[in-house]
Amino acid sequence: MRIDVVTIFPGYLAPLREALLGRAIEAGLVELGVHDLRDWTHDVHQAVDDSPYGGGPGMVMRPQVWGEALDAVLGEEPARLVVPTPAGRPFTQATAQAWAAEERLVFACGRYEGIDQRVVDAYADRGPVDEVSIGDYVLVGGEVAVLVMVEAVVRLLPGVLGNPVSAQEDSFSDGLLEGPAYTRPVSWRGLDVPDVLRSGNHAAIARWRRDRALERTAARRPDLLDALPPDALDRADRAF
Ligand code: ADE
Repeated sequence: MRIDVVTIFPGYLAPLREALLGRAIEAGLVELGVHDLRDWTHDVHQAVDDSPYGGGPGMVMRPQVWGEALDAVLGEEPARLVVPTPAGRPFTQATAQAWAAEERLVFACGRYEGIDQRVVDAYADRGPVDEVSIGDYVLVGGEVAVLVMVEAVVRLLPGVLGNPVSAQEDSFSDGLLEGPAYTRPVSWRGLDVPDVLRSGNHAAIARWRRDRALERTAARRPDLLDALPPDALDRADRAF
């Protein structure tokens, strides 16, 4: 997979080269390009924003500079363009799974009050464009949202996680939150690891894990339980 990010703060994306993602890049599983939007400005001030038509607070990012930058970065190869914005569709685990199958993702990080809408509208004629939000809160710009989304996507790529079962058993993969996990020692500050996890009874362990996942999801995210398809719950699940 090839990932490009266009931003006015390339340094913000440095963590993409750390740890798991850094190793994925070194191993050649992911190619990453981070581009400074100001490289496509032509004035001495390297201005990327202007006041909004219709008035109001804040500044809007200019379409010309974004157009030149995206023409250069997108090139002729097909790519999905992603524009992080609090006004976007929610980014979810399903989004991460769908994007993990793409050859190329190009992220356009807006700042201020966002990017002139014509940039998204113009590229929608050329290929898939997604305006996405990572949650119902407002960040200063799209850079941190890109860190979140790239991490969620790249860990799903084959060969990136040491144990691919981890991705299959993630929270959300079966529509439920993952239950609690324990490691040694058996007893710590008067708190014990549940006996069943040390029983060696794999069926009982699976049932216990499923029950804890259901319990936690019911308590913390009842909306997820409501959204499960009817055949997702077995008979024993119905207690929750
Ligand atoms: N930019 C600012 N806030 C954002 C959010 N919640 N999600 C994605 N991009 C953003």
